[in-house]
Amino acid sequence: MLYQINLREVTYALSEALDYVGIDDTMHGKRVAYIACEIAKKLGWRQSKLDKLILMAMLHDCGVSSDVAHHSIISHLDWEDSQIHCAKGASVLQGVPLYQEFADVIAFHHTHWEQFLPQIDEDIKLSANLIFISDRIDAMRSQFGAHLTHEKEYIRSTIQKYTPSMFAPKITQAFSEISATDTFWYYLEADPIHYYFSEWIEHGEIETVPFDFLKSIAGMFAKIVDAKESEAQPHTPIVASLARTMAELCNLPLREQEQIELAALLHDLGKLRIPDAIMGKNISLSDDEKVRIRRQGFDAHIILRQIKGFERIVQIIFAYHKTLKQEECPSLNGNETIPLEASILVIAHKLQTLLQNADENSFKGNLEVANLLQKMGNEYQLNPLILDKIKSHFETCYKKDVHL
Ligand SMILES: [Fe+2]
Ligand SMILES: [Fe+2]
Ligand SMILES: [Fe+2]
Repeated sequence: MLYQINLREVTYALSEALDYVGIDDTMHGKRVAYIACEIAKKLGWRQSKLDKLILMAMLHDCGVSSDVAHHSIISHLDWEDSQIHCAKGASVLQGVPLYQEFADVIAFHHTHWEQFLPQIDEDIKLSANLIFISDRIDAMRSQFGAHLTHEKEYIRSTIQKYTPSMFAPKITQAFSEISATDTFWYYLEADPIHYYFSEWIEHGEIETVPFDFLKSIAGMFAKIVDAKESEAQPHTPIVASLARTMAELCNLPLREQEQIELAALLHDLGKLRIPDAIMGKNISLSDDEKVRIRRQGFDAHIILRQIKGFERIVQIIFAYHKTLKQEECPSLNGNETIPLEASILVIAHKLQTLLQNADENSFKGNLEVANLLQKMGNEYQLNPLILDKIKSHFETCYKKDVHL
């Protein structure tokens, strides 16, 4: 089916999930986008080029899912392994029609100006170097601050010191000129940067795009979330495929099936704000750590509610997290009816976990899946007719999962 979406708004909102990787130092992507755009304006770039630069800059660190990796990126001006997240980010973008043209720039966003091979296209070099310089400016700002004159001067002189080896002279020159005013630095604060981009989003066109186009964008963010736990064992696409199959079996309208699939792809967005150390913990969690885990549903909600056209997806994810919370804290349960879409998502999620953790020696295959479905169907209030239908088709779900 077709969806009416402002693609600037979609990218802005979803890139917030990437900014969550900074845990307490969020909005890195947006600040890099602002700095790059202001320098490019000074260089006389036209609006269509500025628009692409903003999108690329917001997504520039899509190869980073871990807060430990983010910390090392922010704490060093340059480091040996910087190319790893560049290559990862480029490969993530390549699979998404809306973003694939950005892959080359992202692949070079930590390449030193004097190390570019002569055959690289001039536009790619300039865009990559604009993102590089903006990224390093923001890294220094978060490390040393930019509230005082001497902090700003430190950043400006460091950039100058590494020009032309790291940064193109004309880019540094433009930065020196625009950063001479206090206003330039004020815009790096949370409120002003939000207003800066809300105007840009308002001027974005509402486009009509097919479901698969949106699915590729949601799938990219699912991949980034999954990479936080394990790159080898994808979790989200399997949950999404199972949920879609169940929605089909329930004979839900096509739009509802698609929205359940999109919701499944985006259900874990809030996980990017959970520190790696808590995610990987096997022993019991402290109360503070439990709070951090529990707020992931809220964080996903806050990102997605910014996107006009995603209202139904937001409701589904909200209902899903609410159901899980009631399960963890029975005192919250007021014997409420669980919405069907939340039941589908919870069941798909538990089924994926069972299949992923199934011990080959003791796993009883279809029988175990059938038993689990029966138990969950009762627990999550699935209509018995629907449950029977899902059970009799569980083999399809099971095979789908195995082959994904
Ligand atoms: Fe980076
Ligand atoms: Fe960065
Ligand atoms: Fe999940």
